[in-house]
Amino acid sequence: MKHLLSINDLTYDEAIHILDTAHELARVSDGPMKKLPTLRGRTIVNLFYEDSTRTRISFEAAAKRLSADVINFSAKGSSVSKGESLKDTALTLQAMGADAVIIRHSASGAARRLADSEWTSGSVINAGDGTHEHPSQALLDAFTIRKHLAHDEKDLRGIKIAIVGDVLHSRVARSNVLLLEKLGAKVFLVAPPTLMPVGVEHWPAQVSYNLDEVLPEVDAIMMLRVQLERMSDSFFPSAREYSRYFGLNQERLAILKSNAIVMHPGPMNRGLEITADSADSARSVIVEQVSNGINVRMAILYLLLAGEM
Ligand code: NCD
Repeated sequence: MKHLLSINDLTYDEAIHILDTAHELARVSDGPMKKLPTLRGRTIVNLFYEDSTRTRISFEAAAKRLSADVINFSAKGSSVSKGESLKDTALTLQAMGADAVIIRHSASGAARRLADSEWTSGSVINAGDGTHEHPSQALLDAFTIRKHLAHDEKDLRGIKIAIVGDVLHSRVARSNVLLLEKLGAKVFLVAPPTLMPVGVEHWPAQVSYNLDEVLPEVDAIMMLRVQLERMSDSFFPSAREYSRYFGLNQERLAILKSNAIVMHPGPMNRGLEITADSADSARSVIVEQVSNGINVRMAILYLLLAGEM
């Protein structure tokens, strides 16, 4: 495999192989020698047209732990603000010898456009394209769920997960549904009708508009950020009403199974989709998702660039 653009690019075996490799790499990360020489001399470019904290830093940390050279490019403050196209930017990066380009872009399909073009000869990794996909996030989420809930199983069969909130604008939700289903989990999508995508009935998930009905059933609950920057209309009457019906709070935490975990890809709107005390509660694995992300992204870079997949 050369690129990682969509969860659909991965077979079941490849997905498991990435999670297993991340598990091995996590053992290295926990040891005294954090850095591996594997990608010494390789150049990895972080090409970010949209804002990011976690994903960009996580890919950067992953690449550096594998000894690659990292170039961080963000559209703000670059010639993109002078109108330079993706093509010319990619050609420039290619001339600088990029072995892999990690791209985040507001246009769905941008990562595939780059991968299918002649503008770059390296691997392309999709770090979020519009409302379409964010495969590395889904892989780190699956890694986190497996670690907490799968015990001796290789995959996620029998595990039930609710993905709650702004499904309409969420590339995290789409990639997660595809991957969790591939790994044998049962997924519930919970949102107000206005924040469900058209055609959601064809997704491999059960759709619900009632959070309180789903809560007692699930082993993990993944809260999604309300993506206000992608909303031109109002999708719900008020923030207060949204929190009342779809927000996670202490009363709802109490309805969850005793070993259920709370997830959020970040960044959080504390007080909107999740209360601060729920985000910081003992069930929350939100901070751990970030550290798992580094190991999963190390596995992705290693397998794509060191040619093992
Ligand atoms: C997500 C994203 O950018 O798609 N964040 C992330 O990568 N951790 C989710 C979001 O922005 O809400």
